[in-house]
Amino acid sequence: MPTTKLPLPEIKLLAAENWREYVLVDSGDGKALERFGPYLLISPEPQAVWKKSLPASEWQKAHAVLREENKEYGGTWELLKPIEKSWEMHYQTLTFQLQLGSSRHIGVFPEQASHWDWIMERVAMEKRPLRVLNLFGYSGLATLAAAKAGAEVTHVDSSKHALNWASYNLKLSRLADRPVRWIAEDALKFTQREARRGNKYEGLILDPPKFGRGSQGQVWDFFKKLPDLVEACRAVLSPKASFIVFTTYAISASALVALQAVRDITGSKGSFECGELVSIEESAGHILSHALYTRWTP
Ligand SMILES: C[S@@+](CC[C@H](N)C(=O)[O-])C[C@H]1O[C@@H](n2cnc3c(N)ncnc32)[C@H](O)[C@@H]1O
Repeated sequence: MPTTKLPLPEIKLLAAENWREYVLVDSGDGKALERFGPYLLISPEPQAVWKKSLPASEWQKAHAVLREENKEYGGTWELLKPIEKSWEMHYQTLTFQLQLGSSRHIGVFPEQASHWDWIMERVAMEKRPLRVLNLFGYSGLATLAAAKAGAEVTHVDSSKHALNWASYNLKLSRLADRPVRWIAEDALKFTQREARRGNKYEGLILDPPKFGRGSQGQVWDFFKKLPDLVEACRAVLSPKASFIVFTTYAISASALVALQAVRDITGSKGSFECGELVSIEESAGHILSHALYTRWTP
């Protein structure tokens, strides 16, 4: 375990700046109005503890609203206007599919775009083959970014639906020829197995949810299982590692939880940046926090 004392870290807010197709249009009264390509969506946003800035007529343009009555699946989408079952969106050269399905998540976490920029820069600047492990990879945007920049990516998610979605997004982005391995497994079990096999990765991307299920029903509980995941990540981190990006939406915690997890993975050597991923509202400039993050380089 690391004993090195680091100077107290600065907490930094990161807002994605290069979006053309995503906008946080307005927020307030516990709700957010966002534009995802051609469609405007309303979802609950408990942190929007201020008044909406735009008039009701702007909010009435929304195509769908997330109702949280069905809490088990995080809410269900109610359609207010005609909307395609699925549609495509772009970020830089990446193309991906969005859909309003049975979950509140529609296929992208726009606030993570600054991570994709950073991952692409890190991989490209290394000018050497990098093996990247993306745990809890979901619809694959971070995988696309790493693959686009030339990394060999192992994408792990316990949901076959998410893996199919991510591999479809790889094709949509014209990256189907890139070396990406799709693993339908519990992220912790897989990483522990990789550690036993002695496999190593130069890049780690982790976005562990608060709760989740492995492919065989294993329960992922952030606050209980994180120490085991940290230990497994430490074992698979290559001595020539290039980067770690750790994000978590379990924000009943502090940004320091993510920082300390990455310090424990790396033995405290290297350079750390930590803080919150935020979106800045177009209408009045309110800042909404979504997730905690830590980025590490050697
Ligand atoms: C990317 S995270 C989503 C994080 C999101 N930002 C949040 O907290 O709501 C969720 C992904 O993790 C996957 N997942 C959940 N539990 C898992 C587990 N035990 N092993 C691997 N993947 C898991 C889900 O299938 C989903 O694609």
